[in-house]
Amino acid sequence: MSKVLTTRFGLMLALCMNIGTPPSAAPLNEALKPLPAVAAQDPAKVELGRRLFNEPRLSVNNTLSCASCHHLETGGADNKPFSLGFDGKPVPLNTPTVFNASLNFKQFWDGRVDTLQAQIEHVVISPVEMGSDWKTVVHNLSAHPEYQRAFAQLYPDGVSAANVQDALATYERTLLTPNSRFDQYLLGNTEILTTKEKYGYQRFKDYGCIACHQGVNIGGNMFQKFGVMGDYFTARGNPVESDLGRYLLTGEEEDRHVFKVPSLRNVAVTAPYFHDASAKTLEDAVDVMFKYQLGRNPSQEDKELIIQFLKTLTGEWAGKPL
Ligand code: HEC
Ligand code: HEC
Repeated sequence: MSKVLTTRFGLMLALCMNIGTPPSAAPLNEALKPLPAVAAQDPAKVELGRRLFNEPRLSVNNTLSCASCHHLETGGADNKPFSLGFDGKPVPLNTPTVFNASLNFKQFWDGRVDTLQAQIEHVVISPVEMGSDWKTVVHNLSAHPEYQRAFAQLYPDGVSAANVQDALATYERTLLTPNSRFDQYLLGNTEILTTKEKYGYQRFKDYGCIACHQGVNIGGNMFQKFGVMGDYFTARGNPVESDLGRYLLTGEEEDRHVFKVPSLRNVAVTAPYFHDASAKTLEDAVDVMFKYQLGRNPSQEDKELIIQFLKTLTGEWAGKPL
């Protein structure tokens, strides 16, 4: 009798404590979510999109491809404060990464378009970026038998502006950067972060960074004013038109200096920071955030912990860490 009891008790204990099974690898229930898997795409379309991404014929003088400003080997942007347009003049906004951009709720710093296709439509004709027009692009691509063939195989109407945009957007949807140490942590590998990195994540939540940088992209899902708790722009000086943010679109006073909250994925490899590229380092960027978005003056230790956490957000592309 007592033996049975002990055995039963032992079994219950074993069940409760998960004895005999490997350490639990259940996903954590956190406000931030790991990247989803890349949704299945037509490989021929992805390949066409990849070629178009590297195609200088998309710019008016055949000098710039998407890849000229969005370097995939180094974070999906370039490391310049401002990329140079087709005419060699700087674009007035810092280049954001293309990595994981498909997960953002809108595109561009001011979120003026909803889709990747619309973003491409704009950048090709932008007088400060590629400077072309769609008629010319379609004409130039059609002149190449290889493009003729590739488009004809995928689209009944062959080379067209909409189809160029569709192929490029399809490729961009494959540009996700999975497997960051933080995502592995979220997926249940809680040992992968150091204690300091875990404290950093806790601080990120406790101070309220997560109120704005949240969701699957740790940002990219809302608009916020830059300078909620203080006048960032007066302190910085030299106001320029692109500082106006969504005000340029709506003309509404409440949209002055309002921007899309950027994703913090891969942030350690995408310096410089902010739409105006004013922060050269992650340290500078986090200082500005504390001062103007939170109105807080944290200890040096807390800032350093948060930066250590931010460094766990670097993922992989093409099987290699960024
Ligand atoms: C001259 C440099 C340059 C070139 C060339 C360029 N981009 Fe960009 N890209 C930028 C800049 C600068 C922005 C931000 C502009 C803004 O917010 O108004 C941007 C924004 C984007 C965004 C929005 C990201 C986000 O999170 O809001 C995507 C996506 C993107 N580019 C993809 C592309 C693709 C695809 C091409 C080729 C068709 C391309 N870019 C060509 C500089 C460039
Ligand atoms: C009230 C909303 C809000 C809060 C809170 C907030 N941020 Fe931000 N964050 C933004 C916005 C908006 C931007 C873009 C500003 C710009 O460039 O115009 C930004 C930009 C950044 C950037 C630069 C990203 C890039 O690619 O340029 C970093 C890094 C950053 N935030 C980290 C943090 C940290 C860390 C905290 C907490 C200490 C924090 N943020 C709190 C809204 C917020």
